[in-house]
Amino acid sequence: MVGAGQLARMTQQAAIGLGVELTVLAESESDPAVLAGARCRLGSPDSLEALRGLARQCDVITFDHEGVEPGHLEALQAEGFEVGPPAAAKLLAQDKLHARRTLSELGVPVPVFAAATTIEEIEQFAAEHGWPVVAKAPRGGYDGRGVWMLQDRRQAVEVVDSAAGGSLLLEPMLDIEREIAVIVARSASGETVVYPVVETVQRDAMCREIIAPAPVGKGLADKAIQLAGRLAERIGSTGVMAVELFVTPDRLIVNELALRPHNSGHYSIEGCVTSQFEQHLRAVLGLPLGPTELTAPAVVTVNVVGTEAGEPSGRLAQALTVPGAHVHLYGKSSRPGRKLGHVTVCGTEPGPTREAARAAADALEGLTP
Ligand SMILES: Nc1ncnc2c1ncn2[C@@H]1O[C@H](COP(=O)(O)OP(=O)(O)O)[C@@H](O)[C@H]1O
Ligand SMILES: [Mg+2]
Repeated sequence: MVGAGQLARMTQQAAIGLGVELTVLAESESDPAVLAGARCRLGSPDSLEALRGLARQCDVITFDHEGVEPGHLEALQAEGFEVGPPAAAKLLAQDKLHARRTLSELGVPVPVFAAATTIEEIEQFAAEHGWPVVAKAPRGGYDGRGVWMLQDRRQAVEVVDSAAGGSLLLEPMLDIEREIAVIVARSASGETVVYPVVETVQRDAMCREIIAPAPVGKGLADKAIQLAGRLAERIGSTGVMAVELFVTPDRLIVNELALRPHNSGHYSIEGCVTSQFEQHLRAVLGLPLGPTELTAPAVVTVNVVGTEAGEPSGRLAQALTVPGAHVHLYGKSSRPGRKLGHVTVCGTEPGPTREAARAAADALEGLTP
């Protein structure tokens, strides 16, 4: 696995059960997956030599993040190494502009969009669709970093300057009723399974809560599930893919794809028969896939995000007074706004389940006295 963050760490937990040996390409020996016992190779994901060294040691190369040079993945494939997901599919998660273009060609509903490099092009877009304009860096963004809600020309000038000649993806500010996500897993042999639809709740453009099942009608849920399954087949993904969707008053729209285990699937560790991390390993290794049903009527995950109160581990005892709270801390140093862990609670009613997960996460964040 390229990268050794929390996704690799939780993949390592699943690898232990399967007896699969996970090797991670880590930037540091204190990365979360290395601390969890994954076999470690130190190196940069920007280095083709480091990627090749990892590939020589493994049956298949997979990812904990999107930050790998697409050309390097093409090169590894050309050299005969197995990359899962394949480079062309992975690019749909690495480049938001490429994804918008490809998905709209495939007839998948996406937001109205345009590419821009100049302030004039942004003003033109605003004249057609109004302010605010949502501008996104096509590559390298996550947790709302690389997404700007531009209120006016002055803010647009700042973003164009910071993009230094690179393209921006422009979209209108959408009227979003709800954000939902679906995890789909496709194995190297072509078998596909889809997880239940979840609601993701964002604060400051960062995912904070995941609610399973999403409180949406069966018609909408079925539509999202079919869309995710078809998409995985069309693009030939292998492993787990998360499809982030916007529910607007009149349409269901695809926002982003992530071709790796994803925050919106963390609930599946306790909340589904097969966790997304185990499923990802099974899928990229061409093993049979597991059932995706929920293990409880209501499952809620709340992220633990860094606050001024510092390291959450000192408040573990307080969080564990919440009955049924499954705490996951990633072993990362605390910084305000950084994802440091999550809590999942499996229950019978959505309301109390969410309250319990929040109570434990609040305790870890130091928000309760
Ligand atoms: N066009 C849009 N209109 C309104 N809100 C948006 C739009 N695009 C993104 N957002 C909000 O910003 C969040 C992050 O945007 P996203 O494109 O998913 O970037 P990231 O890679 O940071 O997750 C979304 O989950 C949504 O809450
Ligand atoms: Mg997103």
